[in-house]
Amino acid sequence: MTVPALLEWDRDELGRRRDELLDVYAEAMQVSASAARARRPIVSAHLDRPGLRAVGGTDDDGRLVGVAYGYLGAPGQWWHDQVAAALTPSIVDSWLTGAFEVCELHVRPAAQGQGLGRALLEQLLTGPPAATAVLTTPDRETRARGFYRDAGWVDLLRGLMFPGDPRAFAVLGKRLLP
Ligand SMILES: CC(C)(COP(=O)(O)OP(=O)(O)OC[C@H]1O[C@@H](n2cnc3c(N)ncnc32)[C@H](O)[C@@H]1OP(=O)(O)O)[C@@H](O)C(=O)NCCC(=O)NCCS
Repeated sequence: MTVPALLEWDRDELGRRRDELLDVYAEAMQVSASAARARRPIVSAHLDRPGLRAVGGTDDDGRLVGVAYGYLGAPGQWWHDQVAAALTPSIVDSWLTGAFEVCELHVRPAAQGQGLGRALLEQLLTGPPAATAVLTTPDRETRARGFYRDAGWVDLLRGLMFPGDPRAFAVLGKRLLP
């Protein structure tokens, strides 16, 4: 497969394509479609976040095969506050404050390993008015862990637990400015 053309979505397009995004999420994260669709309100709540950027990659038939989105985080947002409470104040100052938060990055399994994830992430991180980017990912040696390490992301914290989720997460950061 050649890497599909990537399209930047505005917030209206992200809202319109929310269910498609969650179908890609379901396949990539190996959860049921209904579990993924339960995340509809989360995506909807993100649509008016400052600095929202979204990028989608479709195949020749227009089917979404990979997607990424994020926004500028701020105190008062659930994920931001959970992560801020777990990091040291100096890491909050130097990495989290004003950071672009990568919320979702997913590629359908059949399209993985062909450069699409890297292309989506690079395009997503071209443009946000932020000095750093941050994200959380399951703290296991998954494909995503190796992928992020390879792309220059560093561990800011390991073993973070979110309420109601039995999985441990790693908080990763990447500097966007030289
Ligand atoms: C993580 C994910 C987005 C990566 O997308 P992808 O399209 O498979 O990744 P790419 O093909 O663009 O990989 C780019 C580079 O990352 C590196 N890489 C990828 N997987 C790697 C691994 N397991 N170990 C080390 N490096 C890896 C490689 O250097 C690769 O470059 P190469 O093609 O020259 O070998 C995708 O695998 C995915 O959707 N996984 C499941 C969902 C998920 O975990 N999302 C992230 C949640 S935070």
